[in-house]
Amino acid sequence: MSAQRTTVGIIGGGPAGLLLARLLHLSGVDCVVLEHRDREYVERRQRAGILEQGTVDVLRDCGAGARMDREGLVHDGIELRFDRRSHRLDFPELTGGRRVTVYAQTEVVKDLIALQLDAGAPLRFGARVHAVEGADTDRPVIRYTHQGREQTLGCDYVVGCDGFHGVTRHAVPEHARRTYERSYPYSWLGVLADVPPSCDELVYAHSERGFALLSMRTPTVSRLYLQVPNGTDPASWPDDRIWDELEARAATDTPWTLRRGPLTAKSVLPMRSSVTEPMRYGRVLLAGDAAHIVPPTGAKGLNLAVADVTVLARALIQQHRTGSTELLDAYSDTCLRRVWRAEHFSSFMTTTLHTAPDQSPFETRLQLSQLDRIADSRHAATELAENYTGMPLTRGLSSPCAAR
Ligand code: DHB
Repeated sequence: MSAQRTTVGIIGGGPAGLLLARLLHLSGVDCVVLEHRDREYVERRQRAGILEQGTVDVLRDCGAGARMDREGLVHDGIELRFDRRSHRLDFPELTGGRRVTVYAQTEVVKDLIALQLDAGAPLRFGARVHAVEGADTDRPVIRYTHQGREQTLGCDYVVGCDGFHGVTRHAVPEHARRTYERSYPYSWLGVLADVPPSCDELVYAHSERGFALLSMRTPTVSRLYLQVPNGTDPASWPDDRIWDELEARAATDTPWTLRRGPLTAKSVLPMRSSVTEPMRYGRVLLAGDAAHIVPPTGAKGLNLAVADVTVLARALIQQHRTGSTELLDAYSDTCLRRVWRAEHFSSFMTTTLHTAPDQSPFETRLQLSQLDRIADSRHAATELAENYTGMPLTRGLSSPCAAR
């Protein structure tokens, strides 16, 4: 058994844990990141790839923006398809200049890992955390196994960035936490294809056959999704069936061609909404998917994780420099406001665009009326565009990097 100490012990080396480590490192706050998986697995994990402006700004400010600025695709809008019609939402025009950037989460993770390792900052892959103890004491401890050895990491603070299935949430006693949840009666089949995207912008398609999303990763790689029943085996979807179904669901009365190409990955994603409150108990804090899950429609997951750790970095830096816990005390409430907005939006996008297995024709008419309203009313379109592009991250607060 070997024992070490650090100021902030971070459990989970996904985007939340890695970005928090970067922000703390830049401000001279010691931290150690423990990641259960190996580097290759973490760098390959496919997730969404739509970055809000606030996310782009934080990544740039902390030195992780060089490749994103070179390779990211700036998008000024999305297309909604329903009732065989197409409607474009122009984000800058609706929101006073806000845009999004298409840059895959896997690429963000690769950039952050490279920065962390180049800086010589501690990042341990293959570190399996068993328990977080002493959340309500001054000295919480992480127990973990690394390279076959049992280890302990004593911390001033422990941050759980270990996702929905992580252990950190369980360090908060049941009587002190409450989880709010919703599940959805469908999943997504997601594929990557070596073919240029068929449209310049993302296409969200409502159809009675089910939802389809045409997205992209790069100018030569498409990312495509189909609503499928829960429990679907990806092997039951041969490539041709996927292309035929994407084409049928995204069809409009205006002729349009779906470019087909070789599929390089195929997987099924569950859809759920979940929020655990509060996001702090004593000296244990939760961030990203460890505290909340959104269904993927609208791509809020990564943006929420970045928002959480940006708020948290500021709070931990303040505590480290001044001893004040004012921002730490406000952490959970500050984040939960944004979290619930994103939960509402993600749920709205999901339930407006998908067709539930037992959906009545009446409910389909309501969905179409809502989509028609977005197409017809500047108010309704602005509401969607503001939520999609995200509220400014630094409203009323300075960037943790600027505080350096
Ligand atoms: C992607 C995923 C989403 O959930 C979304 O709304 C937009 C894009 C993606 O993976 O590209």
